[in-house]
Amino acid sequence: MAFVRAAKTGAVPQGAIAEFEVSGKSVAVANVAGKFFAINSVCVHEGGPLGEGALNGTVVICPWHAWEYDVTTGKIVGSPDGAERIACYPVEIRGDDIYVDVG
Ligand code: FES
Repeated sequence: MAFVRAAKTGAVPQGAIAEFEVSGKSVAVANVAGKFFAINSVCVHEGGPLGEGALNGTVVICPWHAWEYDVTTGKIVGSPDGAERIACYPVEIRGDDIYVDVG
């Protein structure tokens, strides 16, 4: 697919994560020290909204049952075999807009 505008950079301050609708998908955009990352916002456990979770460094904590995801890779932190992950999307900053390619 292609990059689609998700939000203004100002909508996601440093250290924050927020949820946006991009091409019909729920996407969580995180701002880690000024760099933006995007993952699928729907927790693989029971569908909790990751974009409403707490961001701790590069890790977002699902607000429902506290599963943890690395927003830079989509990997589930502490996953037994390290293989389970959530979709992680490419991000581009154009001017003061955040663009995400959800594929
Ligand atoms: S729905 Fe995310 S941890 Fe349960």
